[in-house]
Amino acid sequence: MSFFAIRSATGLLAAALLAGVATSALAGEKAEVIHWWTSGSEAAAVKVIANAYIKAGGEWIDNAIAGGGGDNARSVGINRIVGGNPPTAMQIVPGKQLDEFVANGYVRDISALAAAGNWKAAIPALLWDSITRDGKVYGVPIDLHGQTWSWWSIPALKKAGVDVPKTWDEFFPTLDKLKAAGIIPIAVSRDGWTIDSMWRFLMISKGGTDLFRKVYIDHDVNAMKSAAFRDVVETLFKMRAYSDPGASARNWNDSTALVINNTAGVQFMGDWAKGEFLNAHKQPMVDFACTPAIGPNQGYVFGGDMFIVTATKDPAMLKSQDLLVNTMMSKDIQVAFNLVKGSIPVRGDVDVSKVDPCGQIGLKLMANPANQVGDRDFYNSPDAIGAIQDLLATSWSKPDTSVDTFVAKFAEALSRQ
Ligand code: GAL
Repeated sequence: MSFFAIRSATGLLAAALLAGVATSALAGEKAEVIHWWTSGSEAAAVKVIANAYIKAGGEWIDNAIAGGGGDNARSVGINRIVGGNPPTAMQIVPGKQLDEFVANGYVRDISALAAAGNWKAAIPALLWDSITRDGKVYGVPIDLHGQTWSWWSIPALKKAGVDVPKTWDEFFPTLDKLKAAGIIPIAVSRDGWTIDSMWRFLMISKGGTDLFRKVYIDHDVNAMKSAAFRDVVETLFKMRAYSDPGASARNWNDSTALVINNTAGVQFMGDWAKGEFLNAHKQPMVDFACTPAIGPNQGYVFGGDMFIVTATKDPAMLKSQDLLVNTMMSKDIQVAFNLVKGSIPVRGDVDVSKVDPCGQIGLKLMANPANQVGDRDFYNSPDAIGAIQDLLATSWSKPDTSVDTFVAKFAEALSRQ
């Protein structure tokens, strides 16, 4: 802080004290927010919320904890709560992750704020269910991400003389052409959750909506033994040959960067990757192509992010949380934040005309409830999901894993509910 700034602040404080009133900034709505948004577009999206909070008179303490997928940030947040030093708010993903917070009394009931903001009518029913427990609201849903997209470099495809494959028959020949043109066909990253993104793209786009639901919602072991499931596993295994040795050192956004700079052909990732393309000033359908399916759309796997505000009786903290929750769910911020993040607003009552062409595909699919496929987080414990991610990471790096072994281990992992 410059000398001038210090003097100004001191002067303000003195003036406020003399007048016997506290300005709203000095009264101190102050939000320390734990999240895992550290890539270029993610940080820019957080700034949209932070700036709005500051503009409304609050102070923002940004606590970004690196690690896409959020395992690190969640551990830090839980440890802070257990240790008696809770942050104002922390990020989780909608679904069963909330159970632990509610069961342990870590999270504040914000039903009154949700009612005042008319959330129930504004957001998809599955999302509403995912933020409520026993009729009380415990989460602030901030975005709707399409979890299973593919992002293609148009210059890379052109160099290889191919288009985005329109059928599964065209899929591997397209990857072969990319390889022959000296391009890394698939940009793969190191973390298990990123292999899981690729896996779920195959599950929905090749396996189909029914298989996806039977496996992740019904935990139907026969579906996991079916020919369609085995085909998805075999396809994943075959894709190993189209990655490169650098994958084991890459974060998800490093892989996106490879597609952005046309070094790689495709990445399979949620539409937070699109945030990175847009942040790099790349144009959808000009510089990069997006599709949630090879061939006809099979449904839209959606998930997203939410914040919980921590349980407290401290009036100052409650006030800070109120401002934070209302800021996040305000119509303006819903629109502005999601444009930068690559996601679509959770509120159906906002203007989505500025959403990019890829997002418009997502909006159109989401408009029909038959296409809405809630991601696995809605129906499965964090433990089961973690076990599947470990399995996927190990099987991806060990070419000797058999399909039978994979199927058996997958069923075992999903039984950990
Ligand atoms: C996901 C989250 C996204 C995105 C991604 C990578 O868990 O839902 O918003 O940021 O991690 O960090």
